[in-house]
Amino acid sequence: MAERATAQIGVTGLAVMGRNLARNLARNGFTVAVHNRSPERTRSLVAEHGGEGRFVPAESMADFVAALERPRAVIVMVKAGGPTDAVIDELVPLLEPGDIVVDCGNAHFADTRRREEALRDHGLHFVGTGVSGGEEGALHGPSIMPGGSDESYRKLGPIFEKIAAQVDGVPCCRHIGPDGAGHFVKMVHNGIEYADMQLIAEAYDLLRAGLGAEPAEIAEIFRGWNGGELESFLIEITADVLAHTDAASGRPFVDVVLDRAEQKGTGRWTVQSALDLGIPITGIAEATFARSLSGHADQREAARAAFPDAGATWRVDDRDAFVEDVRRALLASKIVAYAQGFDHIRAGSREYDWNIDLGGTATIWRGGCIIRARFLDRIRQAYDEQPDLSTLLVAPYFADAVAAGVPSWRRVVADAARAGVPTPAFASSLAYFDALRAQRLPAALIQGLRDNFGAHTYHRVDREGTFHTLWAGDRSEVEA
Ligand code: 6PG
Repeated sequence: MAERATAQIGVTGLAVMGRNLARNLARNGFTVAVHNRSPERTRSLVAEHGGEGRFVPAESMADFVAALERPRAVIVMVKAGGPTDAVIDELVPLLEPGDIVVDCGNAHFADTRRREEALRDHGLHFVGTGVSGGEEGALHGPSIMPGGSDESYRKLGPIFEKIAAQVDGVPCCRHIGPDGAGHFVKMVHNGIEYADMQLIAEAYDLLRAGLGAEPAEIAEIFRGWNGGELESFLIEITADVLAHTDAASGRPFVDVVLDRAEQKGTGRWTVQSALDLGIPITGIAEATFARSLSGHADQREAARAAFPDAGATWRVDDRDAFVEDVRRALLASKIVAYAQGFDHIRAGSREYDWNIDLGGTATIWRGGCIIRARFLDRIRQAYDEQPDLSTLLVAPYFADAVAAGVPSWRRVVADAARAGVPTPAFASSLAYFDALRAQRLPAALIQGLRDNFGAHTYHRVDREGTFHTLWAGDRSEVEA
């Protein structure tokens, strides 16, 4: 039972993420008030980890709030959606102007904007904060993406920067921007995570089909890749997962897992938002749809029965050359996914007036988060050198990597298509690259068709103005 306001910060919601965040805070010297709807979790946290730092357990929300120094900072770590609103509704009457409510769940940024506005009316700060890194990250140092007001960051910044992952002495936390900016950036992070994982999965599938290799052999290939440009957390754990043997059957673990990828929804949100903003995040979209497709078991079964022999057999002659082709194709496709993700952040920032620093965002993804990777430093550099960069694809380091990878990329996608191995993310990334660099796109024909059936008008390459052709009449052109 809390008697005096001694805690610098509080965490309510002590499932594994909240519990680990609270422990991380305590281990870093902060006094943490802890609360959970069912008090058993609060008690077990203190019983099991009380020695790690100073916890102030509270069994009621009123005691929890009373334990906090002012201005109070309360981290809410409950399920996104209704449960978050329920906790906020319970908290607000207990708080006073200037207090800060921090939502560290994976909330939709539109919900965060709504909540921020509502709490602002009460004089409270609402800080939607993206936290990446899973359970381990929460405990040992996540990447933290706080939105909300400058004033709230003055209190939260020193705390979050201390508990975040550190890379080269730089914390993987920075103030992203007002209201929903933090959750928006976390959403796009997850979209990139989807694309990254889909690309890795396609690379594995290609290696398996092309080389006829077993998962353990492919694990070694990924392990090797992790020593170079592709070095990243996801490549590292891919090697671990592929090398793992199922104890029950003795078979490769990856062969006993049902091939239906699930999702909690952040990838879908990313695609929905990109559609609204008109940003072609094709790699992320393909990755999201690939998960959906994998789950349509009935359709897959029907198609398997209808087209048993639609692919050709495929064995590569030169193992090393093929592995290198896949590596280069993976790197190029991954660059496309990041380029699209950063385009999306820039568009969101403009739309909502967030003034997000793209290089700064890359900086805080270098450690702690799921997509942490060696080349995020290059992304930071690219935006530092040229803040108005039109696309990451043309920044020197990435342009070189893509250019060096193009022949491999084409061979891999073409061979996969011939063999009937699906590579939606590899193929769509290559198509995106080719579309961006095309001298002329068939979009001109689409404009012609739209004008033909719907008088939707078009612009000309040779003079200003808006035009319409009288298709049903004498086919002369009029100015619209
Ligand atoms: C992170 C992750 C995390 C996410 C899971 C599951 O950054 O720590 O992105 O926030 O919830 O990876 O996401 P899906 O269920 O959508 O795959």
